[in-house]
Amino acid sequence: MAETLKLDGTDQLDFDRETVERAYDRWAPIYDLVFGGVFGKGRQAAIVATNSLGGRVLEVGVGTGISLPQYAANTRVFGTDISEAMLRKAHQRVKELGLKNVEGLAVMDAEKLEFPDNSFDVVMAQYVVTAVPNPEVALDEFARVLRPGGEMILLSRVSADAGVRRFIEQRLQPVVRPLGFRTAEFAWSRFAKWQAGAAGIELVERRLVPPLGHFSLIRFRKVEIAAAA
Ligand SMILES: C[S@@+](CC[C@H](N)C(=O)[O-])C[C@H]1O[C@@H](n2cnc3c(N)ncnc32)[C@H](O)[C@@H]1O
Repeated sequence: MAETLKLDGTDQLDFDRETVERAYDRWAPIYDLVFGGVFGKGRQAAIVATNSLGGRVLEVGVGTGISLPQYAANTRVFGTDISEAMLRKAHQRVKELGLKNVEGLAVMDAEKLEFPDNSFDVVMAQYVVTAVPNPEVALDEFARVLRPGGEMILLSRVSADAGVRRFIEQRLQPVVRPLGFRTAEFAWSRFAKWQAGAAGIELVERRLVPPLGHFSLIRFRKVEIAAAA
């Protein structure tokens, strides 16, 4: 029988850190070839938004570092990922291209960021939130390390809340899980629920990006705390 997933994320279906880590270690040698072009336009939109803010940027799930050469000189970027094999590619890219604004790269779980509160002007995560076992925990971490006034810039697949697309996405889920992907668990209602429960986070923008209209650029801002009179 086909699995039916709940929209509230209470079904994790064995999507654990080890499965994801193994999947991306396997993807590393061919990742840029397979996913370089197809996600290119989305990444470009996210980078434009990030460069317009500048400052200290944390890119979570930096992968092979495919976006690193696109960051403007007014940014200082720290990249993290759970897969060592993906990060080796990123290191290689930084070295080969002499990317001076890349502060560092480190193996780190998005659900447990090893940075103090309010450390970054921008937290960027491109095609990562749906790969993390407990995305709300990761979003909480992004908000924690973001300084007040800073922005969380996410590129994510947003699954359907209902209808034929949801039906298909649910049936695809068990097939794509071993590859480190999720198709069915991330309806917009889940992002909205997270935001409603997160203190001081406002939605700046949600915009569809290619391919297929299934992906969105999402920007959340951490509200600035008013200075005491
Ligand atoms: C679809 S790839 C996206 C890579 C890159 N951001 C891009 O734009 O192509 C997802 C990345 O998230 C990483 N990832 C998955 N779960 C993670 C976690 N819990 N913490 C940190 N990185 C994670 C994977 O290793 C992989 O590099």
